[in-house]
Amino acid sequence: MKLVALTCSFCGYAATDLAGLQGMKYSSDVTIIRLPCTGRLDVKHVLQAVRMGADGVLVVGCLEGNCNYQYGNLEARKRVEQAKGIMKEIGLEPERVEMVNLASNQPWRFVQAVEDMYVKVERMGPSPLNKVRR
Ligand code: FES
Repeated sequence: MKLVALTCSFCGYAATDLAGLQGMKYSSDVTIIRLPCTGRLDVKHVLQAVRMGADGVLVVGCLEGNCNYQYGNLEARKRVEQAKGIMKEIGLEPERVEMVNLASNQPWRFVQAVEDMYVKVERMGPSPLNKVRR
């Protein structure tokens, strides 16, 4: 299973970094892509990740009220919901996309979110788009 984590450069990425520094284990099937802020997330980024083979996409931003750009994470959540809607319309499980908000000193929350997503995606099976490719 391939997962993509789109993280903001502040809390999101710092938490992934800290998870690594602390030797926390999580699936090696996750590709981390750093955005300046989740507010820069576009629906097309999520759909592009799925189109290019991701079985699940996790958006990782700062806690609500803690975004360095004020409302970026709130905008990101709306876009995640939009992406879920589009995925549903085209026959993909909307649960393949989720957003998690965390603090930079909460690496375990990142690890847990990745593992939760991995389990969920494994239960659903590969993305139907990936089945077509195989
Ligand atoms: Fe982290 Fe905006 S800087 S979500």
